[in-house]
Amino acid sequence: MIDWQAQAKKDRIIVALDCDKACAIQKVQQFEGQVKWVKVGMTLFFSEGPEFVAYLKESGLNVFVDLKLYDIPNQVKLAARELMRCGADIITLHASGGLETTCKYVEENRSLFLDRFDSFADTSVVAVSVLTSFDQVGLCQIGIENDLANQVDKLSLLAKEAGVDGMVCSAFEAKDVRQIFGDDALVITPGIRSAGSSVQDQKRVADANFAFEQGASHIVIGRPIMQANDSLAAFEEIAKSVV
Ligand code: C5P
Repeated sequence: MIDWQAQAKKDRIIVALDCDKACAIQKVQQFEGQVKWVKVGMTLFFSEGPEFVAYLKESGLNVFVDLKLYDIPNQVKLAARELMRCGADIITLHASGGLETTCKYVEENRSLFLDRFDSFADTSVVAVSVLTSFDQVGLCQIGIENDLANQVDKLSLLAKEAGVDGMVCSAFEAKDVRQIFGDDALVITPGIRSAGSSVQDQKRVADANFAFEQGASHIVIGRPIMQANDSLAAFEEIAKSVV
């Protein structure tokens, strides 16, 4: 488990490198010595693969590989193993992908992604609850009538039972999730926006300070930093606001 409590909030800001390889390399060079965590999502991973994760690790960064795995348990298990093998510090899977099945695997034979006997790296596994791009209306549209906060709680309880290391949720559910998981767990909150800035496709947004106050261990920020005229200055401004 990542000893996040020992780290300053600034060092717990994860910058999402949602761009192409050239842009990612340029940002990594610009961020050198300042940014401690980066996130590789589908955009970069699908174009550059595990080699790029290795490059980021060699650059001294902590790497969150956020592919939000969602498939049958066997496929998730094998895919998670590959992500562990490529050196990811944190990986994600969807809690809604069937954690009851996962629980069974974990409890009965420890043979799914949390198999500590056969893990390739010290990788933390976190479960995605309800995407921050969803609001209550969006949730109903896909047939989930449950109150959004209750749905996050429900998925968190299942994921906790399965033994994952934490959850991804919005800042608004971070307090509840922290309560469910306890002090050491990873509670990762995307959907971070400063007051007055564009929310883009996100629905449940909050500022960095609020997210940490609510119990987030890490916050994820993409476009507000990556699309700023000066990405390092944008990062530093947010970092200053959370001291
Ligand atoms: O650009 P922005 O700050 O909105 O990016 C947020 C990042 O966090 C994206 O890379 C997205 O994949 C990720 N994410 C999210 N909501 C989740 C889980 C991950 O926005 N629930």
